[in-house]
Amino acid sequence: MKFFIDSANIEHIKEIASWGILSGVTTNPSLVAKEGKDFKQVVQQICELVNGPISAEVISTDVDSMIKEGKEVSTWHKNVVVKLPTIPNGLAACKALTSQNIKVNMTLCFSVNQALLCASVGATYVSPFVGRLDDINQDGMSLIRDLAQVFSIQKIKTEILSASIRHPAHVMDSAKAGAHVATIPYPIFKQMIQHPLTDKGLEKFLADWNEVMLKMPSHSK
Ligand code: G3P
Repeated sequence: MKFFIDSANIEHIKEIASWGILSGVTTNPSLVAKEGKDFKQVVQQICELVNGPISAEVISTDVDSMIKEGKEVSTWHKNVVVKLPTIPNGLAACKALTSQNIKVNMTLCFSVNQALLCASVGATYVSPFVGRLDDINQDGMSLIRDLAQVFSIQKIKTEILSASIRHPAHVMDSAKAGAHVATIPYPIFKQMIQHPLTDKGLEKFLADWNEVMLKMPSHSK
């Protein structure tokens, strides 16, 4: 499973990219608005930081404007993936864009049927929102499991991009369920790498080393 960061914050993206684990980035209008900066500039800055698919979402909802906007954002950088909402007009726009070899990530997906429709219009990614299903007392992760099963049976090439991830267990469960990608908020990456036994173990290794080795006449670190 590939790791994307779900963020439009340049410092956060830079930090996680420096770990060497990032394969891409997803943004959405809420995340971009939170930064209060020019959309195009933010996307282009992100593209300089991460060499992988960078999702940039359109804000139009009628087909022609979605296509126009999608084409425009796709010119910003070769790695830009146009993000469209999973609505009827989104399907039509997806079909038009993918037929021109523009990659599309279909977002706000909450059911297997929605995902099948997205796949049938050539979406490169479909983004099921795990956390928001959990929010309404439905099991978000079972959607990822169902999609992995259905896409495998149907030999669908569209990648399952597990989104709306709220805690580290969502990441692990997405991997177990067969998601191709998980897009993860910055604080969750920090939680994923942290383990008290790692910290305690490292502290002890270094203390043991220093206790003996630093007392040797010709110690080397
Ligand atoms: O990738 C979608 C994500 O940004 C939505 O997350 O936590 O707002 O449901 P959330």
